[in-house]
Amino acid sequence: MNKRRIINYIICLIFNLKNIILMQLNHKLLIQNDVQIRKTRIRRNGYVSIAHGCRIGRNCLICPSDSKIEIGAYTSINDFSILSGGNIVIGEYVTIAARCAIFASNHVYENPDVYIKKQGITSKGIKIEDDVWLGSGVVVLDGVTIGKGSIIGAGSIVTKDIPPMSVAVGNPAKVIKRRER
Ligand SMILES: CC(C)(COP(=O)(O)OP(=O)(O)OC[C@H]1O[C@@H](n2cnc3c(N)ncnc32)[C@H](O)[C@@H]1OP(=O)(O)O)[C@@H](O)C(=O)NCCC(=O)NCCS
Repeated sequence: MNKRRIINYIICLIFNLKNIILMQLNHKLLIQNDVQIRKTRIRRNGYVSIAHGCRIGRNCLICPSDSKIEIGAYTSINDFSILSGGNIVIGEYVTIAARCAIFASNHVYENPDVYIKKQGITSKGIKIEDDVWLGSGVVVLDGVTIGKGSIIGAGSIVTKDIPPMSVAVGNPAKVIKRRER
């Protein structure tokens, strides 16, 4: 490792620690034991809880935006994934591959005479139940529930609820088969 990388690593470590300590002092962050968080950013604009045994990769962003993000036990979130925008509840033993984006909000755009940026935001929340696997690059939009045991194929965009034990792929994600015993 060269000198620059070591300095960069130390800065990130201090930054992460500062954020984590401040959030815990403000009761905005609950991290249970045996959680591994690598160079990831957790914003202080809401409440975040991460249950035991979770693994969160590098360069992820967890941004509750004045809401609540709850991550269940033994869930893993891989590098460059983003959880943002509103209430997000993720169950236990969920696998989120790299570069997934879970956005629990939408901009209001009804008035064509006003900048979209100025029209406000709506948020219904997203629920990802236990044992779900999101393939790489999956996007989950606001209001969606992904049922227990379901698989979402790489690169899919989930715009509507997915029933439990489904395999869904594509844009918009459609169920192509079911996981059966
Ligand atoms: C969803 C997935 C698990 C399905 O695997 P599978 O059960 O073996 O399914 P198949 O390969 O038989 O594909 C079934 C059909 O869905 C299509 N399909 C599969 N994955 C797709 C995807 N991600 N997007 C669009 N279509 C897809 C296939 O082309 C095939 O279509 P066809 O019937 O017209 O030929 C797999 O394709 C996938 O996307 N895995 C994610 C890999 C990943 O991101 N790994 C990261 C490590 S955690």
